[in-house]
Amino acid sequence: MTITGAQVERVVAECRRVLEGNRQRGVSAWDGKRYDFVCPSPATYPFQWWWDSAFIAIALLRVDPELSKQELRCLLQGTRPDGFMPHMLLWEKSAHERAYTEYSIRLAHPFYTATIQPPVIGRSIERIYEATGDAEFVREVLPAVRKIFDWLDDIRDPDRDGLIAIIQPDESGLDASPKYDAAMRLPFDPPSDTLPALRVSMQRLFKAYDGKPMREQPLQDVFLFEDVMVNAIYADSLRALAAMCRATGAPGAEDLEARRAKCVKALLTKCWDDRAGAFWDLSGKAEERVRVLTFSILFPLILPELEPKIARRLVEEHLLNDKEFWLPYPVPSIAASEPTFDPDWKTNTTWRGPTWMNVNWYLYWGLRQHGFDDVAHELARRSIELVARSGVREFYDPLTGEGEGAEDFAWTTLVLDLIAAERA
Ligand code: GLC
Repeated sequence: MTITGAQVERVVAECRRVLEGNRQRGVSAWDGKRYDFVCPSPATYPFQWWWDSAFIAIALLRVDPELSKQELRCLLQGTRPDGFMPHMLLWEKSAHERAYTEYSIRLAHPFYTATIQPPVIGRSIERIYEATGDAEFVREVLPAVRKIFDWLDDIRDPDRDGLIAIIQPDESGLDASPKYDAAMRLPFDPPSDTLPALRVSMQRLFKAYDGKPMREQPLQDVFLFEDVMVNAIYADSLRALAAMCRATGAPGAEDLEARRAKCVKALLTKCWDDRAGAFWDLSGKAEERVRVLTFSILFPLILPELEPKIARRLVEEHLLNDKEFWLPYPVPSIAASEPTFDPDWKTNTTWRGPTWMNVNWYLYWGLRQHGFDDVAHELARRSIELVARSGVREFYDPLTGEGEGAEDFAWTTLVLDLIAAERA
């Protein structure tokens, strides 16, 4: 399908409608704090999620940069004094009791969870600065954000190898990804409803963490993943934050750069598999490589220092492989060659096949950075086509382009950034 100018305009208008319609604004019963943010989806996800807001802030740059700043200011109200940043802030909890009781979440407080999410926020701040040149804003948010990254380093890197660990699947944002099945002790059947088994397994983790201080939770080793996507995002944000320190004269850039270098080195020495041409996640204290082909294996493409030889192997052997990731509507959350591949959502859980816009957005910029401009253009074209034909949905069938999951899903509006980049 070729996309006409009128169709692109319709996509832009739809995205703007969603970014406007998903706004939640008010005063919370949580100490009377004011909130004003764009939720992922009013019907399904009415709360504020950490990585969603970081993506939404980037999309909002294409509408009004002041709203991007507002999104992060609201989010950062959730930072705890020790630097812990919860993955969900339940501002308007009482109004959305029904939605809330449907999630399988662990709370640290009546208004926030005890869980993290990928720290995309460094990249968001850098993008806001690039778009506005507003050094004041950077100086305003930097102290809180530095604290969050110090917490991640201190609490989530117990083996001090530079890679941060997640302690339950939701912490990567890739909740039910098949790469976690073995660690979650999920019995694998041909794609069928995995939700009940996942819920039971999640309760096992929650029980192991209950009552334990944050510092001790990763040491339980009931679920410990050094996830490649999470760490590529972490390293990318450390780079961005160091650049922001240098641009605004704030101290601490060297520290962030050293942490980043350590993280990248560990990705290369521990996760890169030269035979398979892939980066594998590491599971448990024993750091066993998890050889499941999800898009995570490609994520180091977002790192500028990745050797051209490795970048080329990721792109040619995997991304452009039509038995794995290069499907009609790439990039699927798991390669089509994996037995768990579930493109049309039979498992009733997420990240087991469908294509997501946040992933395409990161990979688009990674591809461009490594000179794969043609692949990036084609990925952008097919991403725009998805929204043109199926609307602003949570995810899409990578074979048919059918929209799936929540309606009016906010981070899918990252397509605005792809459209603008392609026009430029
Ligand atoms: C789903 C996604 C998660 C996202 C949340 C809110 O649970 O798996 O990544 O943050 O929805 O959109």
